[in-house]
Amino acid sequence: MIIAVFFFSCQVDWSQEEIHLMQTLTIRVPQLDPSNHYESDPLAAELGRSLFFDQRLSAKGDKSCASCHIPSQYFTDKLDHPVGFKRNTPTLINAAFQSFFFWDGRRDSLWSQALDPVQHPLEFDSSIEELANLVRSDDCLSQRYLTIFGESPTSFKLPDSQTIAVHIAKSIAAYEFRLISAPSPFDHFAKTLQQGQTTSHYLDSVAQKGLKLFIGQAGCIRCHHGPSFSDGQFHRLGIPDQIEPPTLSDSGRWQGMLDWQAHHLNAASEFSDDTTSYRARRVKLMQVSDRDWASFRTPSLRNVAMTAPYMHNGSFPTLESVLEMYNLRTNIVAHGHHPEPLLTPLELGADELNQLILFLHTLTSPIADSWLEPPPLCD
Ligand code: HEC
Ligand code: HEC
Repeated sequence: MIIAVFFFSCQVDWSQEEIHLMQTLTIRVPQLDPSNHYESDPLAAELGRSLFFDQRLSAKGDKSCASCHIPSQYFTDKLDHPVGFKRNTPTLINAAFQSFFFWDGRRDSLWSQALDPVQHPLEFDSSIEELANLVRSDDCLSQRYLTIFGESPTSFKLPDSQTIAVHIAKSIAAYEFRLISAPSPFDHFAKTLQQGQTTSHYLDSVAQKGLKLFIGQAGCIRCHHGPSFSDGQFHRLGIPDQIEPPTLSDSGRWQGMLDWQAHHLNAASEFSDDTTSYRARRVKLMQVSDRDWASFRTPSLRNVAMTAPYMHNGSFPTLESVLEMYNLRTNIVAHGHHPEPLLTPLELGADELNQLILFLHTLTSPIADSWLEPPPLCD
């Protein structure tokens, strides 16, 4: 009897509106990127999966994408930032829900992003030419290339190196498109509620209270919404890059916007498979503004408990420290005339902060076994 009373007092009640909000956050399949016709092709995705782990993409043969986006670590590296970089390595799980990539959104597709690490001196330090030569010179890669893209990389008509590299990048994007989280305890919980069940073993009452704060009083859902808990937009939280004196030295979206619009592989470029889509049209429609300075793309919160440290510069070691920043808004740098209007100190108590953190832990999904190991290049 006492136990029954205890359970009853712990139950969290949910309104229809809250149940509806939860549904908007549940995991689903992302939309295909119209600029990449190969994204839905399973053969392209398999090729991309091999290449993601292939160290031959780097000039010295010592690095692959998986060196920094380590699959067993939710495709992150657990570092503040890789040596020589100023930004934290983001997870690639659920990246396909985004339409701007990197913290500053300087690329508008997964495929155009993939050629940056190939050429970056601190990453693969290779080139478009060398990447194309690898495909031309390796029988297995050439064969797979021909099957998917319908033309031999070594044929007489000889596709140029840039075309080969873009095709390879589109296959890596097709692989990344499939890195979608399995349902987390939160997704299971939202589903049981929608089915009309009032109790669930997926979220205990503390995490449920955290969920209620997240979608209600704490206002997190205003930016962290949709199936990946990101609005895909850029906001200036005022997180300093340098502590003494606190400064916003990283221009973030400001430079990211300019880079993107000038980039030769954006969605409006000749290498895009659809230059009429909104992704292509927005290249000309959007304009950089003062608001963009030091703003960064809202990160996904799925698996966030597994991907410390946090923020664009990896300067927050724990979820507790992130929540403290939202709660007190101390050590924050203001810029210009446009402070982030959505953020005022939350002034929550220790119990409530703990509830929010426990809720964030319920966004962790298991990693698929098939993500961990590279497939053989050829049978
Ligand atoms: C030296 C470590 C390193 C290597 C190697 C590396 N990355 Fe990254 N990756 C990063 C960092 C750091 C960022 C964030 C940089 C920024 O935002 O300016 C990033 C960002 C990304 C993003 C953007 C994700 C998002 O949510 O916006 C994608 C996609 C990505 N990398 C894919 C790849 C692929 C594919 C490869 C291999 C071709 C690769 N990376 C190789 C460190 C690395
Ligand atoms: C105004 C939009 C906005 C609101 C509201 C907001 N966030 Fe964020 N959140 C962001 C942005 C943007 C970043 C990245 C900022 C940066 O790196 O400089 C971020 C980063 C984070 C991170 C770090 C994730 C990572 O992988 O680095 C966590 C955790 C987080 N937010 C949780 C929350 C919680 C919990 C709330 C509610 C209390 C909340 N956010 C409210 C926009 C927002």
